[in-house]
Amino acid sequence: MKGVILAGGSGTRLAPLTKLMNKHLLPVGKYPMIYYAIRKLADAGIKEILLVIGKQSAGLYLEFLGSGHTFGVQIVYKIQDQPGGVAEALALASGFIHPNEDFVVLLGDNLFEDSLREYMEKFQFEAGEAMVLLKKVEDPERFGVPRLEDGRIVSIEEKPDQPASDYCVTGIYMYNAEVFEVIRKLLPSGRGELEITDVNNYYAARKTLQHSSLKGWWCDAGTFASLQEAGLRLVKEHFD
Ligand code: G1P
Repeated sequence: MKGVILAGGSGTRLAPLTKLMNKHLLPVGKYPMIYYAIRKLADAGIKEILLVIGKQSAGLYLEFLGSGHTFGVQIVYKIQDQPGGVAEALALASGFIHPNEDFVVLLGDNLFEDSLREYMEKFQFEAGEAMVLLKKVEDPERFGVPRLEDGRIVSIEEKPDQPASDYCVTGIYMYNAEVFEVIRKLLPSGRGELEITDVNNYYAARKTLQHSSLKGWWCDAGTFASLQEAGLRLVKEHFD
């Protein structure tokens, strides 16, 4: 499988730090945030990674990651000119993924403990169309929230006022190349973006959206509180 990391976006919730550099380069423990997504994919055996970044700090990504050889991977870079949503960023991967190829997508600000291997194997074994990883959280209203019926996701609501479950859809997804056809048919949401939740809802409606739940800790390091929490956890995990 190949890997795609989405690391564009304006990171407004982490301003003013994000005026200085892109969110995914902010320090988390000893490394910039982006390190951990690359590491997770490399540790799961992925060799080819597409990294979607914005124009901001593009040179810094190259300085830190280069070709990817120090991680044992090959990194291809794509620029998303304007932040236009997660699904729009994902569409930039269409030339990178071959027809019939499966791939993993990570949002670069999602930091987590689990290895991806088990989930990738499950997705490939079941020859799925799409898979999301869930995590039980105390504040589901901040995220995409699944409605579960008989163990299946029937729909996902993005940042609901009244969450249908206490699970969050994390920014860890698996698709096959047909997802690009799904994105092509999407319309922008109320906030003018192409939403990954609309992509996943397409598969939920077809009853082909698989899911698993993460066992270890997970956090979306997009706010100061979660960035700090992630830093403390990762310092402990990597440097004790
Ligand atoms: C995005 C997704 C949301 C998901 C979250 C996970 O939200 O739209 O469904 O739960 O990532 O980190 P964002 O962080 O862009 O607001």
